[in-house]
Amino acid sequence: MEIAHLAYVLLFLFAVVILYVQRRRVSPSTNPRMAYCPHPNPVLGNTVEFIRNRGRFFDWYTDMLRMSPSSTIEAWGALGASHAVTTADPAGVDNLLRTNFANYNRGAHFRAAQYELIGDGLFGADGRLWSLQRKLASYAFSSRSLRGFTDDVLVIHLGRRFLPFLDAAAGSGEAVDLQEALRRFAFDNICHVAFGVESSTLLEWDDPRHQALFAAFDTAVEISFMRTLAPSTPVRKLTKLLNIGKSRRLREAVGVIDDHAMSVIEAKEASQRNNRGEGDPDLLSRFMAAMEEEDGGGELAAMFPTPEAKRRFLRDVVVSFVLAGKDTTTSALTWFFWLIAANPRRGTRCSTRGHVRASGRRWPTGR
Ligand code: HEM
Repeated sequence: MEIAHLAYVLLFLFAVVILYVQRRRVSPSTNPRMAYCPHPNPVLGNTVEFIRNRGRFFDWYTDMLRMSPSSTIEAWGALGASHAVTTADPAGVDNLLRTNFANYNRGAHFRAAQYELIGDGLFGADGRLWSLQRKLASYAFSSRSLRGFTDDVLVIHLGRRFLPFLDAAAGSGEAVDLQEALRRFAFDNICHVAFGVESSTLLEWDDPRHQALFAAFDTAVEISFMRTLAPSTPVRKLTKLLNIGKSRRLREAVGVIDDHAMSVIEAKEASQRNNRGEGDPDLLSRFMAAMEEEDGGGELAAMFPTPEAKRRFLRDVVVSFVLAGKDTTTSALTWFFWLIAANPRRGTRCSTRGHVRASGRRWPTGR
């Protein structure tokens, strides 16, 4: 009797879940303005499709967004446990990234999944910690700073390094990995703009330290990203505790990244001691100055009360800005060249315009 009773209760709960999920599933043909929920399993939500498309997550999402008349989709975890809305609708993206940006929190799950890599940096922060950093960072994106960027940083990294690098490759007739070259170009740029550090991983192509650093970033980003997509399970907690599997790989990668971030901070401190901080302060200098402001009521500094916490936070700042500028710019430029290679006529028009713009600048190019 007891077992039969339990079975009825379970059946009832099962029916409720199915009805709930079915009600959430909106056919695009019946209401094109609403989010489209592509064929979820009534119990498992989109989990089966998610696992099937794990290796092509963004392509899968792009396919689903393409199918949705409102360019917006909803995806569900098993038993409705998790829920995500994704949009490619320009008005929605505008609302998310511009008009109502402060309204969208990253949430505890994202923050926990990314914490080892990003810590308290801008791209992992919410609330006041986010708004204080955002305000500090915004000074570096003024039109004056951006002009300085074009004049100084691009002249060095584009004119004196990247273009000669391509010239040499063209002259030798050897194939080069353009995506890797663009990655190094973007990394050197962001380190120069954000931290005032003038390194050249592009010129030091074979240096194993650079290869190790890029590999560490790739590993850490991939593992952290996959963690944001899946719920936190006891298995993950256990692997973390035992320092095995992906938890171990993440920890090792973050160790390499930490060493690099600390070397950037130390280089900056040394250059500040030598009074070489003329001109507009870079992003890292602004954050370092904010950390000194505790007595003057600096709210950000007060959030990191000990010298260790301040240093740890500066490490998070460095990592966040490397992440902001490295893979984003690399992907954009790689796809740009891919599209040009696939459309040679457009490539000719781009190179003509490039020549017109470049002729008014200081970088030494004849293109
Ligand atoms: C093609 C290149 C880039 C793309 C596609 C891109 C894309 C994005 C996206 C989608 C966001 C919103 C992220 C979020 O909500 O968490 C964002 C925010 C941001 N990006 Fe970029 N980005 C690019 C280059 C850069 C560069 C070079 C920097 C320089 C440091 C930068 C700095 C920022 C900052 C400061 C934010 C605001 C983050 C926040 O307030 O939470 N981005 N970017």
